[in-house]
Amino acid sequence: MKILVLNGPNLNLLGIRDPEVYGYESLNDLENWLNKQPETDNCTLSWFQTNHEGHLIDKIHSVIGNNTDGIIINPGALTHYSYALRDAIDSVEIPTVEVHLSNIYAREDFRKKSVIKDVCIGQLTGLGKKGYLQGFQMLLKYLNR
Ligand code: DQA
Repeated sequence: MKILVLNGPNLNLLGIRDPEVYGYESLNDLENWLNKQPETDNCTLSWFQTNHEGHLIDKIHSVIGNNTDGIIINPGALTHYSYALRDAIDSVEIPTVEVHLSNIYAREDFRKKSVIKDVCIGQLTGLGKKGYLQGFQMLLKYLNR
């Protein structure tokens, strides 16, 4: 099983940025934690973070023909307005799960809308790093259905 884990703008600052909202662990900590979970044994998780919308879209396009089974994505603020990102996810037709560390429905109004939600098989929000694990499990369930 080959899963691509994508993190968008500002998520490279995990552990430094608003730790009371996003936690004290770095993206690297999150990565190591998920890679070590027994559930992810026998799976290849490829991690990619970028602050650039176009790079995120190029990465999504790169799954075409490379046997990626699923995508876990935390697009950061792009979640709320990037129709280009939405179209990219829709175009590649690879099951994708949307993850947010914080609860986007309990914060500012602009965060309550996700423009990618409808093109994803599910959304996990407000569960911290556990959202990535649950997102992974959701993908497995979907792929083995
Ligand atoms: C986020 C929520 C977004 O609103 C925000 O812009 C982020 C992180 C989250 O993981 O909670 O950068 O996606």
